[in-house]
Amino acid sequence: MYILGIETSCDETAASIIEGKGSMVKVLSNVVSSQIEIHQKYGGVVPEVAAREHVLNILPVVNEALTTARTSADYMRTYADSSRSASVRVKSAPICGVDAVAVTVGPGLVTSLSVGVETAKVLSYVWNIPVIAVNHIEAHLYANFIEREKVEFPALVLTVSGGHTILVLMSGHGKYKIIGETRDDAAGEAFDKAASLLGLGYPGGPAISAEAEKFSIFNFSRQGGTPPRRWQFSKKSKIPASPAGRQNPTRLPARQESKIQLPRPMLESKNSDFSFSGLKTALLYQLKKDLNWQKRIPEYAYEFQRAAVETLVGKTIRAAKKLPIKTVMLSGGVAANAVLRQELKEETEKLGLKFLLPELIYTTDNAAMIAAAGYFKAQRKEYTAWQKLAVRANWELA
Ligand code: KG4
Ligand code: ZN
Repeated sequence: MYILGIETSCDETAASIIEGKGSMVKVLSNVVSSQIEIHQKYGGVVPEVAAREHVLNILPVVNEALTTARTSADYMRTYADSSRSASVRVKSAPICGVDAVAVTVGPGLVTSLSVGVETAKVLSYVWNIPVIAVNHIEAHLYANFIEREKVEFPALVLTVSGGHTILVLMSGHGKYKIIGETRDDAAGEAFDKAASLLGLGYPGGPAISAEAEKFSIFNFSRQGGTPPRRWQFSKKSKIPASPAGRQNPTRLPARQESKIQLPRPMLESKNSDFSFSGLKTALLYQLKKDLNWQKRIPEYAYEFQRAAVETLVGKTIRAAKKLPIKTVMLSGGVAANAVLRQELKEETEKLGLKFLLPELIYTTDNAAMIAAAGYFKAQRKEYTAWQKLAVRANWELA
């Protein structure tokens, strides 16, 4: 079965074609048009601007996803095979080439969501194919099902993005129980706000990681350690220029001691909820007291990242110990963070549990994850008539 996924919930216009067979999801195309450069000058996403950009981008992006998928050998073979037509619910399969369209209907920015939803309605009507309403948080979690044969349930999923921080117990496809969530800011939002306080721009997550890495490499080498080969730097420069945006190093330097101390919010509380607004405020107060903070940005970024990662890992592992699970999964934009990926993996494996995380390209917003979630809903025949399809800006997962 071929699914077109459409994602426009925030500032990425994305479309993807996936092929689903049994429990396997194969990505044939994955097109993301990012608006980051446009929103950077405002220091964050401006909803009105985002929606206008989606309107301009959506059809070229869908068209590119279809065109790229059509060059895939498997796809060509399937659609050239006329015996398949009976299993395809579309009359004009070779023209549109997909069996259903899956679209994010929420949660997200209402004006941005509307662009994707209206596009999906039109395609469903014109191509006479069913439409699948997808929850954006559910889709992040389904990034873990892309190009993966088997996932063992029950699974505990930590989804950390710019809008959400949520621990979900997934007992099977479409079966969710919320174990904990943030009471205020999402983890990604905290990274973005901390980066803004440190003058690092938007989006904050990759910028904080890159600065933090400078601090850890510098100290690692000062303490007599040899940095991993990829990080060795010339003796002239005290702090190496870290390639910003590189989020998946093969080995991280050992943990460092920072003189800056930030809180690990709610780490000791018995419930599985999170809180990140206090962490950002603590950073603000420390910066106000420190006249030299501009010379210590890597150290502040390092301590902020440590506080966020220790909190996320600590609370997830504590929940994992109490639940009858086989797998721990990580998803969402903050799952691009190399330190979080490594530490949650290590701690999960110490418990003898399986650890899964999406490929980097499927952590931040994309449409392959929307199509993947849509595929599993299609298997349960969870379609929505296009006449009834509507934006659900505050749609909760469970
Ligand atoms: O999932 P996503 O693309 O959009 C939402 O659904 O919100 O997540 C975006 C968030 C941003 O807050 C961004 O700063 C954060 O993910 N992020 C990171 C990293 N890369 C992206 N946070 C921490 N470390 C990173 N390396
Ligand atoms: Zn997202």
